[in-house]
Amino acid sequence: MAHRKPKVVVTRKLPDAVETRMRELFDTELNLDDTPMTANALGAAMSRAEVLACTITDRVDGSVIDQAGETLKLIANFGVGVDHIDVAAAHKRGIIVTNTPGVLTEDTADLTMGLILASARRVVEGANIVQAGEFHGWSPTWMLGRRLWGKRLGIVGMGRIGQSLAKRARAFGLAIHYHNRRPVGARIAEELEATYWESLDQMLARMDVVSVNCPHTPATYHLLSARRLKLLQPHALLVNTARGEIIDEAALAGMLQRGELAGAGLDVYEHEPAVNPKLLKLPNVVLLPHMSSATIEGRIDMGEKVIINIRTWMDGHKPPDRIIPSML
Ligand code: DGY
Repeated sequence: MAHRKPKVVVTRKLPDAVETRMRELFDTELNLDDTPMTANALGAAMSRAEVLACTITDRVDGSVIDQAGETLKLIANFGVGVDHIDVAAAHKRGIIVTNTPGVLTEDTADLTMGLILASARRVVEGANIVQAGEFHGWSPTWMLGRRLWGKRLGIVGMGRIGQSLAKRARAFGLAIHYHNRRPVGARIAEELEATYWESLDQMLARMDVVSVNCPHTPATYHLLSARRLKLLQPHALLVNTARGEIIDEAALAGMLQRGELAGAGLDVYEHEPAVNPKLLKLPNVVLLPHMSSATIEGRIDMGEKVIINIRTWMDGHKPPDRIIPSML
C-alpha cells in the first residue's frame, strides 16, 4: 500500500541529493533561494506543515511553537545542536524533536584539531603575511608559535566529538585531560590515557590548551564565565567549536586584548552571526564562520538522518534520534 506523503517544510537549502530524495518521499516544500526564515515565516510554516525540517538559523521558540497547527507532529532538525528549539514546549504539545547525531563527529573533531594547530602555530597570521606580499625572508626569531607536543589539552565535554578530538590530539603528543558530567568508561579512559577532572576550575588552571566540546544547555550557558576564564594560564589557548554561548565572549575578547590569554580559535560566537568587534582586530585569534561540520559528505549524511527520522515517524515508529527534555 502506498504511503500518504506527509507535508514537510524545509527551512534552508539542503544538498541537492538530499532535496531530491525528500521530494521523492514526501510532499516537500523547499527553500531554494536559501533565505533564512523570519519568525513570521517560521510560524506560518509551522501552521501548514506536518514536519518542519529546520536548522540552527531558525529560532523555534515557544511563540513559534504556539503557532503550530494540529497537523505538526515532528520537528526534524538538520544538525546536532538543538539549543535553538524549545524542546520542552514542543514536547508539551506532543511534537517530537529529532536531531542528527554521530554523522558530523569526525568532521568537527578535524576542524577543532585544525583550530588548535592554527592558533598554536599562527597559521592564519602567517598565511595573511604571505598573501599581503610581506614575506621578506626567514628569521630565527620571527613568527614563533608554541609547540604542541608534550603539552596538556583540557577537553570540556567528553562526548562523541570530545573523544574523537582526544584521539587526534594524542597523535600530536598532547596529554588528554577532560571535564564532563561523568567520567567516561574505563576502557575509553584507558585507550585515550585521559585524566578526569571533576572540578572544571582546577582543570582550567592547569591546561595549555582548552577545547570546548559540550552542548549548549541552560547548565552550560557561560560555563566559561569571566571568573573561570581568569583561571586560565596566560600562555593558554582556548578553542570553541561547540556553541558561542558557552563562553562569555566579551570577557574573552577583553582578556585577549589585554594579553591575559595567548590566543583563541573560534568557530562559533555568542551572538551569531555577529562577532564581537574587539575579536576582529586581534592578531592572536583564528576566527571561522561556524563551519566545523561543513563537508559535503557530512551534510549529505545529516540530510539522510533527517530523512530516516521522518520516515520512521511516518511508519508509525519512534524516530531514532528523538530528543527528550530530560536529556538536555
Ligand atoms: C550542529 O549540527 O549543531 C552544527 O553546529 C550546525 O548546526
